[in-house]
Amino acid sequence: MFNQSDILDEKNSKVLRQKSKEVTFPLDDEDISLINNMIMYLRLSQDEEYATKNNIRAGMGLSAVQLGVLKRYFVISYKNEDGTFEEYKVINPKIISNSEEQIYVEEGEGCLSINRYVEGIVPRYARVSVEYYDEFGNKKNVRVREEIAVAFQHEIDHLNGILFIDRIDKKNPYKNKENMRSI
Ligand code: CO
Repeated sequence: MFNQSDILDEKNSKVLRQKSKEVTFPLDDEDISLINNMIMYLRLSQDEEYATKNNIRAGMGLSAVQLGVLKRYFVISYKNEDGTFEEYKVINPKIISNSEEQIYVEEGEGCLSINRYVEGIVPRYARVSVEYYDEFGNKKNVRVREEIAVAFQHEIDHLNGILFIDRIDKKNPYKNKENMRSI
């Protein structure tokens, strides 16, 4: 298992700016165990008691590149209000279609590789259809919305070397705000 200090920070890593490579199946045992550890890490990070005790930040998405592995996969673990998790293990994803409607996260997007507050809005599609493979090579097709849609777009950006801060207009951080819905 890795720990928070293994997650690359934007300030001291050029790896985060690189484009990750497509993965071929079957996956190595190493990739499968990394994927499972990534899911476990996110679950634990959202457990308040565990996170406080271990002084770690909560996260709901993590890409392999954030651990220095330049392969096109990421995981999402989203804690519902009832305490259950909605989880995705996403390999070689492609956005097939998107809504016209755009949204942004009111309190700003978070990223385990960006350990500072960055002002401004990150425009995202409210809904996206994504095609990807699971860790066993099964093809999946999902239509995701709201927070999960934001997470998919945020993580797909990571696979292309893009960080959420790149999507904030430097001169006008609240540009086009009136044309988007906040979530
Ligand atoms: Co991130």
